[in-house]
Order: sequence, then C-alpha cells, then structure tokens
Amino acid sequence: MRDRRYAHPFRDLRAKLQDATSVCVLTGAGMSAESGIPTFRDAQTGLWANLDPMQLASEEGFRADPQRVWDWYQMRRDGVRQAEPNAGHVALARYAARHPGRMTILTQNVDDLHQRAAARAGEGARIVALHGSILADRWLDACPRGEDLMRRPCEPARAEPGRPPRCPDCGNRLRPGVVWFGESLDYRDLTAAEEAASACDVMLVVGTSGSVWPAAGLAARARHAGAHVVILNTQASEIDDEAHIVLTGSAATLLPRLLDPL
Ligand code: APR
Repeated sequence: MRDRRYAHPFRDLRAKLQDATSVCVLTGAGMSAESGIPTFRDAQTGLWANLDPMQLASEEGFRADPQRVWDWYQMRRDGVRQAEPNAGHVALARYAARHPGRMTILTQNVDDLHQRAAARAGEGARIVALHGSILADRWLDACPRGEDLMRRPCEPARAEPGRPPRCPDCGNRLRPGVVWFGESLDYRDLTAAEEAASACDVMLVVGTSGSVWPAAGLAARARHAGAHVVILNTQASEIDDEAHIVLTGSAATLLPRLLDPL
C-alpha cells in the first residue's frame, strides 16, 4: 500500500539506508528477470509448456518422470550459466561492499547471480540462498552407505553420466540441489533469514510475488519487528500491505537509482 507521507520516497529511503546498521534484502525471480533468466512459469516453454509446475519442481514429479524433470533442470542450468548479474545485482553488491557487514540478502532464486556480483564488487553482504542452488547436485535418496558409520557415503561427483546420473554402487539418482514444492527449507538458512528479518532496520523486497512461503512471511516478520519495509516490483505483489512504501519499476532500474549515491 502506498504511503502518502513519503512525498520523496527515494530521498527519505536513502536517508534511512544511510542511517541503518542492518539492511535486509529479500529477492525473488523478478530480481533475475533482466539477466534473461525466465521466471518459473516463463521457463515452461517448448516441450514443457503444458506441464504443471508441481510436476516439474516436486519430488513426486521427479520420481514419476526423472528424465523429463532432469532435462528441464539442465535447460534452466544452461540459462543460468549464460546469464550475467544485471544492474540491480551490481548495485546491491556495490552498496554491500561499501558498507561491509550491513547487508543480508535473502534470495529465493536458485541462480548464483548475487554471489557472482558480490565476487566482483568485493564481499560485503551475507547471502542466504533459501531455495538452494540449481547448479548443485545431491542424492535423491539417503545414501545407504551413510547408515553404516564405518563407511563413507557415496560422493555425488562419482555418479555415472545419465538423465539423471546414477551412483555406480547403489543406483541412487542425482537430483538438483534446490528446494522443491512441499519440501522444507534448510533449518539453518531459515533461522538465519528469520534472525536477519527480525533484526534489520530496513527491508527491501525485490521482484517477488510474495506467494511462496515461508519466504513471503519474512516481510511481515521484519515489519512487526520495527523495520521499514519497501517493495520494489514491476507489478502488485501479494504482500504489498506489509510495506511502508511500494516502488513500481524494475530491479535493474530502481536499485542503482536508490543505492548508487549511498
Ligand atoms: N523487476 C522487479 N520485479 C519484477 C521484474 C523486474 N524486472 N520482473 C518481474 N518482476 C516481479 C513480478 O511482478 C512478480 O511479482 O517478480 C515477481 C516474480 O514472481 P514469481 O515468478 O512468482 O517468483 P517468486 O516470487 O520469486 O517465486 C518464489 O516460487 O517459482 C518458485 O521456487 C521458485 O523461488 C521461487 C518461488
């Protein structure tokens, strides 16, 4: 909901960011849209156009048709590898590098564009990848060797090529290292995110529809803990009511305008 008290939202917000000791940034698929990474639904093209997202991004869907889901993720991995951080990622990373220790980025994105921007600008922010990494692999099932304390679990790097690759010893299959629908977030990541949201002075919510939980609840958590909450999005989101201000525009346009002078 727009707040009419803020006649000069950028000036007022820059003053808050200047004074803040802790800034939290919650990002979603819109953050990477201008890097050419399609949002979840946009990625359902061609062979995958008529499939339910739940069939492509769930354990149930993977078990039902591992090859199809593996191929879809390979296509998305190729897109992520070819993409570059956009001006929004760069603005966040540069602000963080100028103010080390001040910023925590909580991203729902499974690409590595925040990390790559940070590697170039100089590390300054803590980055929590709430939904994992599309570039990582892990076993679909618990490794049977891991149950025996005397034996080391099988290494995903040893998997034999395939769609998906398989363990040569136990037949276990690799799956992408992302959090699928119906799965829990890593406890340490969620705890870190909740702590950062509760402790920040300002939260920027960038390019997320606010429809996927528990990430969507972090904006309300920050607001209730006293943070100034700002949404940056090209369209309305489901959590606009949690914001003190909604800035309408793209991540790659708004973030440099907001942060570069600071
Ligand atoms: N700049 C800012 N916002 C944008 C831009 C842009 N250039 N382009 C799109 N958006 C906004 C859209 O208006 C929308 O609100 O980004 C949001 C994208 O919404 P979703 O595709 O639903 O993405 P997200 O909210 O990140 O979804 C969360 O759901 O798809 C799963 O696990 C996946 O992490 C993802 C989660």
